[in-house]
Amino acid sequence: MTDTDRPRHCLVTGANRGLGLEFVRQLLARGDRVLATCREPGRAQALNRLVAGHPGRLHVLPLDVAMPKTHAELLRELPLVSGGASAPIDLLINNAGVLHPGERFGTISPENLDDSLRTNASGPFLLTQALAPQLADGATVANLSSRLGSIASTAAFGTPSYAISKAALNMATVLLARALAGRGITVLALHPGWVRTDMGGAGAELEPGDAVSALLAVIDRLHPTDTGSFLDRHGATVPW
Ligand SMILES: NC(=O)c1ccc[n+]([C@@H]2O[C@H](COP(=O)([O-])OP(=O)(O)OC[C@H]3O[C@@H](n4cnc5c(N)ncnc54)[C@H](OP(=O)(O)O)[C@@H]3O)[C@@H](O)[C@H]2O)c1
Repeated sequence: MTDTDRPRHCLVTGANRGLGLEFVRQLLARGDRVLATCREPGRAQALNRLVAGHPGRLHVLPLDVAMPKTHAELLRELPLVSGGASAPIDLLINNAGVLHPGERFGTISPENLDDSLRTNASGPFLLTQALAPQLADGATVANLSSRLGSIASTAAFGTPSYAISKAALNMATVLLARALAGRGITVLALHPGWVRTDMGGAGAELEPGDAVSALLAVIDRLHPTDTGSFLDRHGATVPW
């Protein structure tokens, strides 16, 4: 069970917009310390405004999840972050993701498929592996997956690069859960619902604030036996 009474040390990927930015806002609002990572910190205006309002509790660091050399650079930077933010990580949110829209069978490009796999599957897997020594015993790793990666729920051909990569992320989630079980680390795949972000589009059902508060409530209610599961924002199991 997560101890919600003490501030947690959290790391969020893809934090400069969408759900990632909302995770940062809500974690800060509850008193947590946050390492917010993004590809271009110098252009992350919303994040940099938050830094000013949360001295010592929010640090913005560069990370491209699809480029493992930046994982190593992040690891080197962690001890240099001031204010004790290099303490063990209690909550890692692998949020960064990409969806290449408009794909049609017959013309799927290897570049889209490769980029999706690197960003959505191998990136979070390798980052979690690299950060494992920095994770606190009993930590939580939340992988932002999608119902579109559910093999059992796939009834039609759509968003193939995204769906294949999220299915791979789901396997990565289970494997990481097994690898980290001895340290009491809970690893999950989470489906946020269809959310109004750049990825979800203006017609989506949910506001980012509502999706993120629901996901954080699911994380708060976790039991170690939940590790390796695929849950929606209500805490219900999503079929693999
Ligand atoms: N929105 C939905 O309806 C929905 C539904 C199910 C699952 N999800 C999942 O939820 C997560 C967040 O989605 P969102 O809706 O917030 O998407 P979004 O609005 O498109 O934002 C995606 C974020 O990921 C970052 N990103 C992309 N590639 C990256 C890379 N290689 N390295 C680091 N950061 C990278 C982007 O950074 P830049 O600004 O630098 O591009 C951006 O901050 C994703 O994993 C997505 O698959 C979303």
